[in-house]
Amino acid sequence: MSKRRILTGITTSGTPHLGNYVGAIRPAIAASRRDDAESFYFLADYHALVKCGDPARVQQSTLEIAASWLACGLDPDKVLFYRQSDIPEIPELTWFLTCVTAKGLLNRAHAYKAAVDANTGAGEDADAGVTAGLYMYPVLMAADILVFNAHEVPVGRDQIQHIEMARDIGQRFNHLYDGDFFTLPEARIEENVATLPGTDGRKMSKSYDNTIPLWLPANALRKAILGIMTDSRAPGEAKDPDSSNLFAIYQAFANADETAAMRTAFADGIAWGEAKQALFERVDAELAPLRERYEALVADPARIEQQLLAGAARARERSRAFITRLRHAVGVRSLDARPAAPASVNGPVAAALPQLKSYREADGRFYFKLANGSGDVLLQSRGFDSPKEAGRLVAALVDAGDDAAALETLLRECAPADERALAHGPIVAALAALKAEKVAKDRVKSG
Ligand code: TRP
Repeated sequence: MSKRRILTGITTSGTPHLGNYVGAIRPAIAASRRDDAESFYFLADYHALVKCGDPARVQQSTLEIAASWLACGLDPDKVLFYRQSDIPEIPELTWFLTCVTAKGLLNRAHAYKAAVDANTGAGEDADAGVTAGLYMYPVLMAADILVFNAHEVPVGRDQIQHIEMARDIGQRFNHLYDGDFFTLPEARIEENVATLPGTDGRKMSKSYDNTIPLWLPANALRKAILGIMTDSRAPGEAKDPDSSNLFAIYQAFANADETAAMRTAFADGIAWGEAKQALFERVDAELAPLRERYEALVADPARIEQQLLAGAARARERSRAFITRLRHAVGVRSLDARPAAPASVNGPVAAALPQLKSYREADGRFYFKLANGSGDVLLQSRGFDSPKEAGRLVAALVDAGDDAAALETLLRECAPADERALAHGPIVAALAALKAEKVAKDRVKSG
């Protein structure tokens, strides 16, 4: 059975904070250890450009976020960990999707609508200061998800609409081009993961300026925790854990026993200073070993760069095959490719069909080759001991037609390694034409 594909992106426009760690990094890394799933985690640096026009910051944030995920235990051999901008199939797919996306759908996106409402409220032109990048953000995100046919996308609630749009867009493409190209993704909201409050009690978020950066040195971490707002209850006075942001942060790091003990301490009137010291110690106990790894990682950007490039190379094994199929589907394809509909009798002379021929060589083995309508050999098989084996592959190739993903596997079986650099486009085109021919013939037979 094939595994469920779980995919999520992290926009590289800031410095990771405790809220990102508790709400995204820690649960995602735990999920990536599941054996029944295949995880895709990527750095959404193209998305960062929508929010951030500072090149140094985009680069620094990419480094910090990559180092954070690795330091927290993401295993880049087990998951696909890559940078969005290293996958050229993503912007290419973005354009294919753009061309089937209703403009009205994008008009309804929350982030865009919020910008328009703010402008209207201020008496400005509705689109003042709105870039086409902000407007197109959901389409780029749909391409991120659809290019790997993800089943599940773990995100925060604020992203649910984007996943719904990815479904809409994927479904529309499937419908218009009449095929099962895209898996329709589902948002996965982690119900039991806490949203961490920030130092002022509101949700910890860069936009409220209430964050505690994840990788503060121990001393600075202690200071930041001492700065968390509390009420003015004196030492010895009972305190309510359930309305305390300090308690909520403690709970996100502590186990059940520790949490219960802290609850009692609150009832017993622990001093805020003491509670803050306990919180600092608990958080630091978890982060100190990770911090050490983080520091070693950010000090060696070249190594992270290598890891990201290796991740992208693995990811592209899939996206490249898939985009070939999509290009073919939309008609961005070799001029050798025969249109699926047979030319009418009075129409232009039909191009000669490609040929897929089996034969036996003097060495006694069985071979086949694929040539286009002009007779150029596109694919030469290796030798097979049995004609059955060669025949099975020939049939499977025609069946695969323009299914580039299936082809990728088949080509590995049919051709010696050094032949696999062969242009895939013309091979896909020729096989698609043969398949169309076969389907047409079968139809005649059964009709
Ligand atoms: N928009 C997401 C956020 O701000 C980041 C993101 C970009 C993403 N592409 C994605 C998340 C694809 C999930 C899947 O959090």
